[in-house]
Amino acid sequence: MPDISREIRLATLPSGLPQPHNFAVVETPVPIPAPGQILVRNRFFHVFAAMRTLIGGSVAGAPFPGLNPGDTLFGAAIGEVVTADGDTGPRPGELVSHWLGWREHAVVPVTQCSRLGQVLPDPVAHLAQGRTAYGALTRGAEVRPGDTVYVSGGAGSVGSMAGQIARLLGAGRVIGSTGSPEKAGRMRAELGYDEVLIRGTDPIADQLAKAAPDGVDVFFDNVGGEELRAAVAAARKGARFVLVGALSGQLAEEGDGTAAPVELDSFQLLVRQVTLRGYSASGDSEVQGEWLDRFAEWSRSGLITFPYVRVEGIENAPAALYDTITGLHLGTVVVAL
Ligand SMILES: NC(=O)c1ccc[n+]([C@@H]2O[C@H](COP(=O)([O-])OP(=O)(O)OC[C@H]3O[C@@H](n4cnc5c(N)ncnc54)[C@H](OP(=O)(O)O)[C@@H]3O)[C@@H](O)[C@H]2O)c1
Repeated sequence: MPDISREIRLATLPSGLPQPHNFAVVETPVPIPAPGQILVRNRFFHVFAAMRTLIGGSVAGAPFPGLNPGDTLFGAAIGEVVTADGDTGPRPGELVSHWLGWREHAVVPVTQCSRLGQVLPDPVAHLAQGRTAYGALTRGAEVRPGDTVYVSGGAGSVGSMAGQIARLLGAGRVIGSTGSPEKAGRMRAELGYDEVLIRGTDPIADQLAKAAPDGVDVFFDNVGGEELRAAVAAARKGARFVLVGALSGQLAEEGDGTAAPVELDSFQLLVRQVTLRGYSASGDSEVQGEWLDRFAEWSRSGLITFPYVRVEGIENAPAALYDTITGLHLGTVVVAL
């Protein structure tokens, strides 16, 4: 066992989007667990764009607190138990998932970690954001066979799973959006999207009208802003919109990433009888088991892929965060330790 563990802390508050120099790699003594806690050596952690919002401050009602300079970053992680808590709970050598990523070693309350078990063959797949995508599509939008589904932010960690899951749940046509033609090509070839809209080219509303000439039944929204407005204009009667993220505000250069205001034509919402529903995976604990079973079954049958980018070494995590926010990657970004 080493004596020293490294972790990523917020060093300074950014003006605009966070840059690698806003973070510090800090050495600390390996923490000692108290009763009710276990020591975990992290193997992988998730680098996610919503970190911008946590850095921007706390959002009323959101499941996670904001970060201040000096705080260690946190997020989903997979690690190996080093020291168990007495004779109960996860055993040394066992893999667990928990929320204290961005550090090499973590002391985790036993009640706040989950054994990975054997359901998924690859431990890193537990960092896939499919649970959110599956929960939002089955509980939030209630996708039906034949639906035309539009996934904004369709190449991201959540979106890359949502497009595939929508198809597996019976969607007839799946449309996504992204920020570059290269990613659009990969989304068609690797994730099965029928059409991909490209942010920053023609107006999204025009692109969507061409991609879905008969309209949209389900809108899975990671973005808000212009994409939400376009979806209202393309909604079929009785369309179901599930709001999962607000990247247009979270990743805007201006502001602090904690708000995503948008002007909508409420007259169109009522005329088209659109249902708008927010979905939060953290408020839906019951979906996890069902999702894991389906993910395992679809993976075994070769029906779904977990697209992820592997970045080696904790010292590269701040740059990986910047690359994630600025759209370099497709899928989930994972730091391997
Ligand atoms: N409701 C829940 O339970 C829940 C759970 C997890 C995550 N979330 C939310 O889900 C959303 C997606 O999360 P994620 O981890 O999958 O993020 P993500 O898609 O990986 O976010 C990064 C991507 O956002 C896109 N992007 C960058 N700037 C943008 C802008 N100004 N407008 C629109 N898109 C921009 C870029 O992709 P492209 O270039 O490909 O567009 C970039 O690669 C986030 O809002 C997150 O907070 C919600």
